[in-house]
Amino acid sequence: MHLSTVSINLLLLVMVLSVLSSTSESQQPTYLHHDCPNTTTFSINSTYQANRGTVLTSLSSNSTRREGFYNTTAGSSPDTVYSLFLCRGDLSTSVCQACVTFATTDISQRCPNQTRAVVWYDECLLRYSDQYIFSVVNEEPSVLLANSQNITDRDRFDQQVQVLMNDTATQAANAATGARKFAIRQAEANFSSSFPTLYALAQCTPDLLSTDCDRCLRFEIANLPRGSQGGRVLSPSCNVRYEVYLFYNQTAVAAPPTPPGSGGNDRRTWPIIVAIVVPIATSILLLLLVCWVLKRRARKKYNTNGYDITTTESLQYDFATIEAATVKFSDANKLGEGGFGEVYKGIISNQQEIAVKRLSRGSGQGTEEFKNEAVLVAKLQHRNLVRLLGFCLEREEKILVYEYVPNKSLDYFVFDPAKQGQLDWLRRYKIIEGIARGILYLHEDSRLRIIHRDLKASNILLDGDMNPKISDFGMARIFGVDQTRGTTRRVVGTYGYMSPEYAMQGQFSVKSDAYSFGVLVLEIISGQRNSNFYETEGAQNLISYAWKLWKDGRSLELLDPVLRDNYSRNQVIRCIQLGLLCVQEDPADRPTMATVVLLLNSYSATLQVPKQPAFVLQSRTDGRMPDKGLESDQSTSRSMPWANNEVSITELYPR
Ligand SMILES: *[C@@H]1O[C@H](CO)[C@@H](O)[C@H](O)[C@H]1NC(C)=O
Ligand SMILES: *[C@@H]1O[C@H](CO)[C@@H](O)[C@H](O)[C@H]1NC(C)=O
Ligand SMILES: *[C@@H]1O[C@H](CO)[C@@H](O)[C@H](O)[C@H]1NC(C)=O
Ligand SMILES: *[C@@H]1O[C@H](CO)[C@@H](O)[C@H](O)[C@H]1NC(C)=O
Ligand SMILES: *[C@@H]1O[C@H](CO)[C@@H](O)[C@H](O)[C@H]1NC(C)=O
Ligand SMILES: *[C@@H]1O[C@H](CO)[C@@H](O)[C@H](O)[C@H]1NC(C)=O
Ligand SMILES: *[C@@H]1O[C@H](CO)[C@@H](O)[C@H](O)[C@H]1NC(C)=O
Ligand SMILES: *[C@@H]1O[C@H](CO)[C@@H](O)[C@H](O)[C@H]1NC(C)=O
Ligand SMILES: *[C@@H]1O[C@H](CO)[C@@H](O)[C@H](O)[C@H]1NC(C)=O
Repeated sequence: MHLSTVSINLLLLVMVLSVLSSTSESQQPTYLHHDCPNTTTFSINSTYQANRGTVLTSLSSNSTRREGFYNTTAGSSPDTVYSLFLCRGDLSTSVCQACVTFATTDISQRCPNQTRAVVWYDECLLRYSDQYIFSVVNEEPSVLLANSQNITDRDRFDQQVQVLMNDTATQAANAATGARKFAIRQAEANFSSSFPTLYALAQCTPDLLSTDCDRCLRFEIANLPRGSQGGRVLSPSCNVRYEVYLFYNQTAVAAPPTPPGSGGNDRRTWPIIVAIVVPIATSILLLLLVCWVLKRRARKKYNTNGYDITTTESLQYDFATIEAATVKFSDANKLGEGGFGEVYKGIISNQQEIAVKRLSRGSGQGTEEFKNEAVLVAKLQHRNLVRLLGFCLEREEKILVYEYVPNKSLDYFVFDPAKQGQLDWLRRYKIIEGIARGILYLHEDSRLRIIHRDLKASNILLDGDMNPKISDFGMARIFGVDQTRGTTRRVVGTYGYMSPEYAMQGQFSVKSDAYSFGVLVLEIISGQRNSNFYETEGAQNLISYAWKLWKDGRSLELLDPVLRDNYSRNQVIRCIQLGLLCVQEDPADRPTMATVVLLLNSYSATLQVPKQPAFVLQSRTDGRMPDKGLESDQSTSRSMPWANNEVSITELYPR
């Protein structure tokens, strides 16, 4: 009974609104961006493709839903396709419908055979995946769009933007469960007479919990551009935007209480809004209650289904166990000291060897976040990654437990004249390939999309067969480096391996990892450290030396002398060329790791000719740079210079 009242009331609302919006609205939506990794694809005429067709049709036929949101599933495992659309909260159902209908065909053209895809328009977003995506926060990939027009009084402007965005996010996140998680706000701004008002918008998919929505929005707000007249950040689960002009349809939104000191709303809409809001508010509340109950049920079921096999409990180690395993963290068991704390070897009950990383105290984030991130990182499993087995959180201790990798790290062999000989060319080539595959997995194949940010020889461990295993990935995540909301953030990398844009502007991306990989490749080939290079032939670091030799057609001279008897000329030259391509100054000139892996696997693929690379970061003191990663206190202001074009798009994979 109550439900029918609600629908009649809502119907009324829709009718009133559609009468108000009699203008024609059937234009094509404004495309913004799409993301569908090449790395997981399905084959033509497969069941998965058929299921994708089914969900897209279902989305399209449900695009007139008042909620501006719909989720649907088709097929059974392993060909299940999960899919949803979300329309901007201020748009009419007809605009929403036009956008979704367009998107369902557009997405299959932009992503013909990719298993996961998101496409964003001004008006809506549409997404499908082979993984469960409902009620799950996905802040990544996050796409940043910045207005190229600058603001003169940046600091004051940004401050006011942050405050307004903050309020808008709070309002959106706290929308009642089941309702649209959408808010718009405006505020008088006093930084410039030409822009008297600031406008902001925040929206999450309504299937998220308030806390999750809030987290997503805060995260994206922190990624907003600085000093621009406008900016937005799009992600699969939420998006935020601000401008100095009115970009949303104020009259279409019924609920927002006007913030104090804001410019007046269009007065004529008030009577209508009041008339509508009062009678339906109670029924909506009831509807929400029902939704909430249903949702809780769904959530429970989903947990007991064992969708997430890795649970916090299964990863948790007692402090007592760890203490016994490492003989009370004895010096004899100490393996080393990394950027995040000390590392010990340990043996647990079943003779399993482990490596225990005891994180420095009093730093990092809260225990809940630590747990959540550790669980996520533990799910990353690849033969070229050191596996995280679990963690321990007790007595103020934060400890990570890893698989034990016996042969120390790459730097221990490759830079030591006494041990260099143990790595012949074939082995080094395999190490290069393995590292590339591990990074590719972090960037594209894992569910998280991790930017390592601190790739270096000492973070490449070698197993019993000298296969490389990347360590310390996800540390920025676990450690909560980017969770602080200041304007100054810590740069996680190590000098010598950091790309210019990361070292100087704090901008990291898959391409800054590609840069570090390029440095590693040149180091592995030459057996010399980039950061501790003795001036040779006028070149001050390894990169400029490699470039000089390349230019002169003498690149084989870079090769470590101990390898000179037995190597593949072709492979060495290709690797040097690849290394130089990876250290190009402009991130756009560097290959992605997918391309790197492809080039390493195929001798026929042609490589681009490198331009002069970035000879970055001559030391401020001498050639020796701190080699401690996060703990080295290399804070760099993370102000981001945005491109001058009309709109610049950057994909961020923060944390
Ligand atoms: C905004 O929404 C109102 C009510 O739905 C409608 O009458 C109006 O035409 C819309 N304005 C724009 C610019 O779409
Ligand atoms: C994805 O594949 C297309 C064509 O198959 C190619 O043009 C594109 O560069 C690839 N993208 C990446 C990131 O590898
Ligand atoms: C499917 O994807 C793969 C990998 O990106 C690509 O090489 C292939 O050409 C695609 N097939 C079609 C029919 O688009
Ligand atoms: C896919 O199916 C269509 C129609 O059944 C057929 O014409 C086409 O050849 C098939 N393509 C492939 C690659 O199997
Ligand atoms: C909506 O989607 C469901 C399946 O998810 C489908 O059965 C139904 O026909 C669709 N269309 C409408 C108008 O409800
Ligand atoms: C829609 O999402 C909810 C979780 O938010 C889920 O329980 C439900 O099964 C989904 N509906 C479909 C048709 O997949
Ligand atoms: C905006 O500022 C950046 C650096 O602060 C500058 O490079 C750019 O040219 C400016 N753009 C305009 C349109 O003034
Ligand atoms: C934004 O809100 C958070 C809490 O919700 C607060 O800690 C932070 O200081 C606020 N930032 C600004 C600029 O108001
Ligand atoms: C601008 O507004 C802020 C608060 O919003 C206020 O503290 C400040 O004094 C104002 N400045 C001017 C010049 O009005």
